[in-house]
Amino acid sequence: MAAEMSKQQIDKILEMLADLPSLPAVATKVLQVASSEDATAADITRLVSVDQGLASKILGTCNSAFYGLPQRVKTLSQAVALLGFKAVRNLVLVQLMPWKRAGQKSFADEAIWVHSAAVATTSRVLSGQTGRCDPEEALLAGLMHDTGRLALNQLLKEKFEPVMNAIYNREEDSITVERELVGIDHTVFGEKVLEKWSFPDEVVRVARDHHQPAEQLDGLTLIVRAADELAWLMGKGVREPEQPPTEVPPALSILGVSLGDLDALEERVAVALEQARDLFGV
Ligand SMILES: [Fe+2]
Ligand SMILES: [Fe+2]
Repeated sequence: MAAEMSKQQIDKILEMLADLPSLPAVATKVLQVASSEDATAADITRLVSVDQGLASKILGTCNSAFYGLPQRVKTLSQAVALLGFKAVRNLVLVQLMPWKRAGQKSFADEAIWVHSAAVATTSRVLSGQTGRCDPEEALLAGLMHDTGRLALNQLLKEKFEPVMNAIYNREEDSITVERELVGIDHTVFGEKVLEKWSFPDEVVRVARDHHQPAEQLDGLTLIVRAADELAWLMGKGVREPEQPPTEVPPALSILGVSLGDLDALEERVAVALEQARDLFGV
C-alpha cells in the first residue's frame, strides 16, 4: 500500500505525530536494554523496580497461565531468568502503552485492543508452532501491528468511530475505509509512530507491510499477517466470526495450514486467548 503521498498528507501525518503522547521513559529504556547484547537481568530489574505499581503488575502477569511457568515467580530477576528479556520487555510494554488508559473506553478503543491482543497471542502461537520466529518477537510485532489504528483512534477520537464501525461491520476493506474517511491509512501512520517511539526495525516493518499481498511477505510479517487473518476468522475485533470459512486465507495457507486444520488451530488459539486475558486486560 505504498501509494505516493501528497504533500498535504505528509503534513497531516507530521502534525498528528506531534500530538501523539510520547512513550513513558521506562518503556523506551526497556526497549533499548532488551535489544542490547550485553544487558543483564539486573539492568532490566533496576529499570522496572523504580515503579512499584508496574513491578507488581508484571509479577502478577508473568505468573498467569499464559506462560505456564513450573514455579511461582516472586522477583523480577527470577522473571527475567525464567522468561527471558524479551518476554519481560513485552510485559512492560503491554502495561505502558498510552492507550491502555483507565476510565471509560469507547467502542472503538475496545474493538481495536481486543483485536491487537488476539493478534499478539496468535502470532506467538503460530511462531511456536512453525518455528519460524522468536515467539516473543512475534507477540510484540502482533501487538503493535495495528498501532497506526490505535494511534489514529486516540488522536481523532469521535472522528474515528465511523471508520471503526465500517471495519467492525466488515463493510469495506479497512485500508480503503481509512483513506476515504480520514485521509491516511493505519500502515502509513503506524510506521511513523513506531519509528518515533524507537521500536525495533522488524516491528516497524510489520506495521508497515502487513496488508501487502501475502506472497510478498516473510518472517515476522508473514506470521503476523496469518495471525491477523485468523483473528478476523474468529471474530476478534469484528462483529461476527466468519464461520465456516470456505477457504484458507493466503498467509495461513503459505504457512501450510489447510482447511481441515483450521478448527484445531482455532481451538489452540482460543485456549491461549483465555490464558492471556489477564495479561492484556481483555
Ligand atoms: Fe492492519
Ligand atoms: Fe489487524
